[in-house]
Amino acid sequence: MSKILVTGGAGFIGSNFVRMLLLGSDHELVNVDALTYAGNLENLHDVEKHSRYAFVKADIADAARMQRVFAEHHPEVVVHFAAESHVDRSVLDASAFIRTNVVGTQVLLDAARAHKVQRFVHVSTDEVYGSLGAWGYFTEETPLQANSPYSASKAASDLLVRAAVHTHHMDCVVTRCSNNYGPFQFPEKLIPLMIANALEGKPLPVYGDGKNVRDWIYVLDHCDGIRRAMEDGKAGEVYNFGGDAERENMFVVREILRQLGKGEELIKFVKDRPGHDRRYAMDSSKARAVLGWRPHHTFEDGLRKTIDWYVSNQQWWERVRSGAYQAYYEQQYGRR
Ligand code: NAD
Ligand code: DAU
Repeated sequence: MSKILVTGGAGFIGSNFVRMLLLGSDHELVNVDALTYAGNLENLHDVEKHSRYAFVKADIADAARMQRVFAEHHPEVVVHFAAESHVDRSVLDASAFIRTNVVGTQVLLDAARAHKVQRFVHVSTDEVYGSLGAWGYFTEETPLQANSPYSASKAASDLLVRAAVHTHHMDCVVTRCSNNYGPFQFPEKLIPLMIANALEGKPLPVYGDGKNVRDWIYVLDHCDGIRRAMEDGKAGEVYNFGGDAERENMFVVREILRQLGKGEELIKFVKDRPGHDRRYAMDSSKARAVLGWRPHHTFEDGLRKTIDWYVSNQQWWERVRSGAYQAYYEQQYGRR
């Protein structure tokens, strides 16, 4: 059993990871989350009273606070999810992305080093590799060519982790994953936004020609990969995870409408995202060979499960949508 400090555990992937470890291991977990617009403790309602779980509301970019949190909880392992995660928001204003994703990551590395943390797992993204043409895959050796303020901030954090390994001999592992979907995803991202809008009979805003390609992975397959990297990954190594499920955005949107029995007249083509990356596709062969990992959900299974979850949990996303999300929605889509 280890004592694991998880950052960003009230967000989408973090909350799925916390639940997976509480119910499927004997690790003790401390969840450090600032509860930004994307952090929602309702995501962990079913496990929040677990005897091996504690929550700390704190900002990872606050160095003095992080030193105190580490001194109080003595984590042996850090799994770092906390980030500003939405590309469109980074186009509107990058400042929070620099503060949390770049400064926050260095603050955590410093606290982890000072408190002799044994392993630091940094959760990163395929977006650091940039954009692909019609062919090929991102490998761990693909040069970093981030294109959005979000992905540039994540690439910066990846390099800070690399520097901690090289300079301070810290035991860090970096995971890079493709587009996640599943329960508890904030309805600003493509799949939950389209499901929620379709259920409410609102337009489904498709950027550009709708032919951009993402490699979709069910969130629990990603969490399984992070767990394996945490337990069996080698210090200083990067591991790619992808869903082997490349789909054009229009295919995803049409499939959601079909499964919900809604008509395609809801689709509305809107102005493209500035600098919109065309295609992502991951080569996960290293994680398969070294960590024994593979994704267990096909896109069809995962999407069906996800749609069922959003249909059965309408209260969850309605409450999310009635908060700060509305003001942001106006800013993002009102002008198109
Ligand atoms: P999310 O936006 O749903 O959750 C982010 C969480 O971080 C929230 O709970 C938020 O409150 C917290 N947070 C933000 N700023 C903070 C701060 N300064 N201090 C403490 N907590 C803070 O994000 P997500 O989609 O769950 O992504 C989690 C991680 O996985 C991110 O690092 C992201 O870059 C990475 N990732 C995401 C995807 C994806 O498809 N969503 C894919 C690959 C990698
Ligand atoms: O690839 C991993 C990344 O996936 C993560 O690192 C990010 O945190 C996560 O947000 C996600 O980034 P994307 O930009 O790929 O995801 P998003 O859901 O925002 O968009 C997916 C695709 O859908 C993209 O091509 C843009 C398009 N899109 C998105 C929205 C929100 C639309 O056409 N309309 C929309 O309203």
